[in-house]
Parts: sequence; C-alpha cells; structure tokens
Amino acid sequence: MTTTWHPGSWNDCPAGQQPEWPELGDLDEALHELGARPPLVFAGEARRLTDQLGRVATGQAVVLQAGDCAESFDLSSADAIRDKLKVILQMAVVLQYSAGLPVVKVGRIAGQFAKPRSSGTETRDGSTLPSFRGHIVNDITFDQSSRRPDPKRLLQAYNTSAATLNLLRAFTRGGYADLRQVHNWNQEFVASSPVGERYERLAEGIDRALNFMTACGFDTDDAAMRQVELYTSHEALLLGYEQALTRQDSITGDWYDCSAHMLWIGERTRELDGAHIEFLRGVHNPIGCKIGPSTSPSDALALCNALNPDQIPGRLTLISRMGADKVGDVLPNILRTVTDAGHPVVWQCDPMHGNTYETEMGFKTRAFDVIMDEVREYFNVHKAEDTWPGGVHCELTGDAVTECVGGGDALSAESLGDRYETICDPRLNGRQSLDLAFHVAELLADFR
Ligand code: PEP
Ligand code: CO
Repeated sequence: MTTTWHPGSWNDCPAGQQPEWPELGDLDEALHELGARPPLVFAGEARRLTDQLGRVATGQAVVLQAGDCAESFDLSSADAIRDKLKVILQMAVVLQYSAGLPVVKVGRIAGQFAKPRSSGTETRDGSTLPSFRGHIVNDITFDQSSRRPDPKRLLQAYNTSAATLNLLRAFTRGGYADLRQVHNWNQEFVASSPVGERYERLAEGIDRALNFMTACGFDTDDAAMRQVELYTSHEALLLGYEQALTRQDSITGDWYDCSAHMLWIGERTRELDGAHIEFLRGVHNPIGCKIGPSTSPSDALALCNALNPDQIPGRLTLISRMGADKVGDVLPNILRTVTDAGHPVVWQCDPMHGNTYETEMGFKTRAFDVIMDEVREYFNVHKAEDTWPGGVHCELTGDAVTECVGGGDALSAESLGDRYETICDPRLNGRQSLDLAFHVAELLADFR
C-alpha cells in the first residue's frame, strides 16, 4: 500500500475486475468529461450518513440497504423506481415500528451499474465473447458489438444516475414519503397478499399513533414526518469512474467520492494490497466491504485497520455474505477479533450472495427459506457474542417478478420463467421483500 493517498494512487496497485476497454483514447476522453461534471451527491450528505451509521454501530439504530443487483439503463418509466422506493419505505417502516429504533435507509440505486464476474468471457454454442459487466460497461445481448466494452457508457451511467437521483429526491422530499402516506406505499401486487394485509394492519396502527400524537398537541406536520432520507450506494468497482467523480470538499478539505453517498468493496476485490482498498481508504464517504466465507478473523481485522484506522463509528460497514450453512462457523471469530480490537463496525447481513444456485432449467435463483436461515443464524451469532446485528442488505424490486423461489406464495422452480427479468442476480419481489422485513422485525424485537 502506498503511504501517500491521492485520488489516482490506486493506479499503482493491481486492480481486479476492470474491463478491457478497446480504445484507450475514448476512455480518457470519457473520464475527462466526467471529471468536469457536477457531483451527484454532496460531501455534507455523506458525512450525515456516516453519523447515522455511527448510531447503528453503537446499537441505537438499524440499517436497511436494498435495491437491484444491477440497475439497467432502460429506465422505461418512473414507475419502476417509485415501486422500488415504495417497498424500501414499507420494509423500513415495518422494521422501525417493531424495533422502535430509527432505520437508516440506503438504496442500491442511482449508480449500481458495474458487476464483477467470475470469468472474463462467456461461451455459448461454441462462440466466446466478453462477459456482461453491467450497463456501465457493455450490453447483456450475446453478440460481438453488444458485448464490446464502450467507454461512452460511463457518461450514460452518470446521466442515468442523475435522473434516478433527481426522481428519488423528489419522491422522498416532495410529500410522497410522508408518514401519512403509509397506506399508499402498499402497491396492488403486495396489498393483495397476506403479508400485504399484515402491513395494512401495521399502517392502521401508525395512523392511530399519529392521531393520538396530534390530539396530544405534538406537531405531526414536522419535516421528520413528511420527508425521508434515502441514501444511495453502489459497488465501487470501476475505479476510473469513481476517481473522476472524486472531489475535494471545500469545507473540510477532505476527498469524497461524489458518485454516491456510500460505496462498497465486493467480495472479489477486497485484496489488502489491491487497488479497490487503496482507492476507498482515502475517500471520506462511509464505506462497506463484503466478507465471504473465506474471510479469516485476521483478514477482517486487517480490512478494519486499512479502511478505518481512526476507528470512526459509521465509517465502515462489514457486510457478511457467508451462506446459510457457513455463517455459524465463520462469523463468531470475526466478531470477537474485530470487537476485541476496539473497531466500531456496522455489521450487516447480506443473506443473498452466499445462497445462489442454478435450477435444472438453468435459472439462477435463491430460496426464501434459506435466505431466512442465514438471517436467523446471523442474529443468533450476534446474540451469542453480545454484538449488535446492525441490519440487512438485500437485492429486491417492487415488481411482481419470479426470480427467487419460496416465500408466502411458495413460488416454485417451475414458475421462475413467468417473469424472470433481472439482468444479474435473482431479486426478491415486492411480497417476498415485505415478508423478509416482517421476519427481520421479529428477530429485532426479540433481540432488544
Ligand atoms: C453484489 O452485491 O451484487 C455482489 C456482487 O456481491 P458480492 O461481492 O458479495 O459477491
Ligand atoms: Co448481486
């Protein structure tokens, strides 16, 4: 690791998962243009998120991080963004109501376009092409021109992020996220299910509480009731893109990656001497790092020392994605080692990425019950170690897709083809997401 950090110091370290851009001139031009664009988020917002996550680190709040595995450039309508926001708001309100703690909401949204791949190429019927690396790099269609990495897509990623963020800011600030709209977040597909009805009853409880508070003379017209803070996040995978959006804050002089409020490092790019750690150790945003089943306690401690040497609460979230059958074996020693060293980590459970498998029909899927097994075991481990479980990290959409099996509808492997729309990993649909939130809420209520 270099001792002097600057936004480009990662260039001296090995960088995994970077695309092979065809024409370097085009890449330089795109990065140069990005460097002149306005920031998407402000340093002050990122600092605020660090503070709020700091409360999660000390057990005074819960974090919910959720959204697509990979967002698409095909923003066919505002409706899909709105429906994703609705589900996140519903989940957050369920968690907040049951746990009686604030819920910090972080979307995998407005920039989640780059994907790491296990292989750089894909072969179909004897023909081999570059793998799909997310819309920021290439297109999913399996032909030569679609799969060629195109640096102009970096600018399209910026524009799509800006449009999405603009809509989210309008939805969350403009009255739509008002707590008195709690019934309206229950979209038709969800409302017509048992879990949707359960939500309706909870929403009626919130109405009664608000009426009671108004009757007592409290001001329920306060901004805290009318607005919601939804922060953005994505995997900081393409370091050229992230560097181009990194700016020095005029107030503190610190560097912030202004492509999103929070950035995370994926399981495949968390080598200690690698470029991703080098880049993210120097920006002052809150940072996440995935930790999979091969993580040793000393690996986890080394990540904490590299990414949060000053032990600032909220600066570092470790996202456990072990797999339901491994979390009980692997996580306890990590928790102990990191806690004993005094690191104020925000712990998070990603029950999705360790539990993916392929069906006989060739669909990549995840089973709702297994996802819940990992969450439950994760909570058990924290209980045993006397640490705060923090929150959950999941891949979801508000739509009525059929990508994960099980859940309240007992979605079968045979039904996966009905509406399998993800461009990367399988997501929970609106009903399954709300179902998960109620389960997590019960675990949180028991925990306290
Ligand atoms: C993801 O979050 O979509 C992802 C690729 O996760 P991981 O790095 O944990 O495999
Ligand atoms: Co994923």
